Amino acid sequence: LGCFTHDPGFVATASCTSKITYIDGDNGILLYRGYPIEQLAEHCEFTEVAYLLMHGELPNERELLDFDLEISDRAIIHESLRKFFDGFHYDAHPMAMLVGVVGSLSAFYHSEMNIKDPVQRLRAATRMIGKMPTIAAASYRHSVGRPFVYPRMDLNYCENFLNMMFSRSSQNYIDQDHYIDQDFVKALNLLFILHADHEQNASTSTVRLAASTGANPYACVAAGIAALWGPAHGGANEAVLNMLAEIGSVDNVPKYIAKAKDSEDPFRLMGFGHRVYKNFDPRATIIRKTCHEVLSKTQTNDPLFELALAVEEHALKDEYFIEKKLYPNVDFYSGIIYKALGIPVDMFTVMFAIARTSGWVAHWLEMMEEASTPISRPRQLYVGPAQRDLAAIKNR
Ligand code: CMC
Repeated sequence: LGCFTHDPGFVATASCTSKITYIDGDNGILLYRGYPIEQLAEHCEFTEVAYLLMHGELPNERELLDFDLEISDRAIIHESLRKFFDGFHYDAHPMAMLVGVVGSLSAFYHSEMNIKDPVQRLRAATRMIGKMPTIAAASYRHSVGRPFVYPRMDLNYCENFLNMMFSRSSQNYIDQDHYIDQDFVKALNLLFILHADHEQNASTSTVRLAASTGANPYACVAAGIAALWGPAHGGANEAVLNMLAEIGSVDNVPKYIAKAKDSEDPFRLMGFGHRVYKNFDPRATIIRKTCHEVLSKTQTNDPLFELALAVEEHALKDEYFIEKKLYPNVDFYSGIIYKALGIPVDMFTVMFAIARTSGWVAHWLEMMEEASTPISRPRQLYVGPAQRDLAAIKNR
């Protein structure tokens, strides 16, 4: 077996070719289909970016209108699917509900699930983008014991999600005239764009690996959601807020920086470091700026933001973080914005999943368009015992 390359973590293995997303980790460059993330974040709607990822080109006005209509039309979930939530205990983690309910979509759309048919593939992809906010909001409503809110066709993607989350429960979003705070909508739209895709990250690679077996796309995306949940990946945004709460005050920052440097201590500074970015994460730069804007608009003086800035300042001056090229990543500041929007901490990774669905389905579509895709089947370096004979149970 010596002819295989041992590459745990796939640090030096390209598993596929892709035309979707380009990252230059040394120079902090992120492009979706060739467009810089900074330009997309400033000028686009999230659904425009989802269309770009799926189709390879930005939509014109007519195409975007049609795409938005289709997404809104598919936002409704089957009543039987809605009842699935009743089976979950109220304190189930929303990511646990998301994995289960998204996987179960395959039980609803099996009759038209011919993955060889490009029309059915596109329908499945838009269906997932459309339904994800509804399922996500339903998991939140269930966890707080509030009734399900149906999606509305007259609201855009982010407005609709905020309405399904907070309708009749938060003056911040919806007042009696159903006015939705457009600053919040803008911030959410930006976060969704920044999280939409990131080439072969762990969850996208999981979607591709599952898809290589010919599994249906709902099951593949459910596998991606499971991979996203871990704190080394999408779960980091939740972990950052928990960590900041644990640090508690600026005075404690040096103690926690020392803890993160201690090789005997498993503690890591959550929201710091990235496999590809070794200079800065361009998404973190945009999010930090948005954090300032959202907090000043909401006139929130969130001590956690002050604390986050202090952690960043200390870490970026520290030899250990400089030498290991550890910078704040996308998850370091995103949670502070979500918190300002009223999103509870355990929903943060769900928010990531809503956005990343557009990337997952784009990669799935790209893969399905290839003439042939081999099953993903890595080898291993076996380090167990050599062949031996078994002893009868009474002699062991
Ligand atoms: N705090 C302290 N030390 C760290 C950290 C950190 N956040 N990240 C990496 N290191 C150290 C690590 O201990 C190792 O040291 P040594 O060489 O002495 O063993 C060195 O830096 C390299 O770390 P690694 O784990 O081999 O690097 P990686 O490229 O495999 O991991 C990472 C990247 C993101 C998993 C890691 O930096 C990490 O665990 N960060 C914290 C979790 C986090 O913020 N994740 C979100 C990632 S971005 C969004 C996403 O993917 O969803």
